[in-house]
Amino acid sequence: DLGQDLAGRHVVVSAGGTREPLDPVRFLGNRSSGKQGYALARSAAARGARVTLVSANAALPEPAGVDVVPVGTAVQLREAVLKASADADAVVMAAAVADFRPGTYAAGKIKKKDGQEPAPIALVRNPDILAEIAGERPRPGQVVVGFAAETDDVLANGRAKLERKGCDLLVVNEVGERKTFGSEENEAVVLGADGSETPVPYGPKEALADTVWDLVAERLPENS
Ligand code: C5P
Repeated sequence: DLGQDLAGRHVVVSAGGTREPLDPVRFLGNRSSGKQGYALARSAAARGARVTLVSANAALPEPAGVDVVPVGTAVQLREAVLKASADADAVVMAAAVADFRPGTYAAGKIKKKDGQEPAPIALVRNPDILAEIAGERPRPGQVVVGFAAETDDVLANGRAKLERKGCDLLVVNEVGERKTFGSEENEAVVLGADGSETPVPYGPKEALADTVWDLVAERLPENS
C-alpha cells in the first residue's frame, strides 16, 4: 500500500526556530513559524511512520499520533535530535537553528545604565547538527535531509551547501520579502546528492512535505 509507504519506519523531524537566551527575558531568535516542519511530521504520520517531532518554539497544535519533544535552544535541539536519531530511518532538519548564540548568559535581567553605551553582544558558534548527523549516520542507511533558505544564486548555493553538509537531500527555498516565513505556502527545489533536482511549484507546505517523503522513501534501504 503506497499510502503507508513509511510504515515500520521511525523518522525524526526538527521544526521551528531556536531561541538563544541573553538573560531571563531576552533571546536572539528567528522568524521560523514551524509550519513546514509540522507539515512534514503530519505527512509522515499519515504515511505510517513513527514520528519524533523536535519542536523549537513553534506555537502550533500538536499533530495527532506524533511524539513531540519541545526544545528551546540549538544545544537542546541537538541533544533531542541526536537521541531520537539513534534508531531513525530518516532525519529531516526543517528547524531554523541559530548559527550563533550569545557567549554569556546573564542570570539577572540586563539593565540600561544612564550615560553608558550598551555592552556589545559577543557571539559563539553553535554546533551544526545537520552536518554532524550526516557525517556520523547514527543508523546505517539513514537518509538525512536539510533545508536551506537562500536569497540569490539559489541553486549554486544550495548545491554547495548540500556538499558541505554531507546530507542526501537539501530542500532549497528562495526567501524574500513575502516568501516562506509564517506563510502557508512554499516553493522549493529539492537537490539530491546523486545530482537530482526536483522542483516543487508554489503551493501548500503539505505538498512540499509529501514530495520530500517521496524522495526519502526512494532512498531508504529495504525494511528490515
Ligand atoms: O547553514 P544553514 O543554517 O544555512 O543550514 C540550514 C540547514 O542546516 C537546516 O537544515 C538547519 O536545520 C541545519 N542547521 C543545523 N545546525 C545549525 C545550523 C543549521 O542543523 N547550527
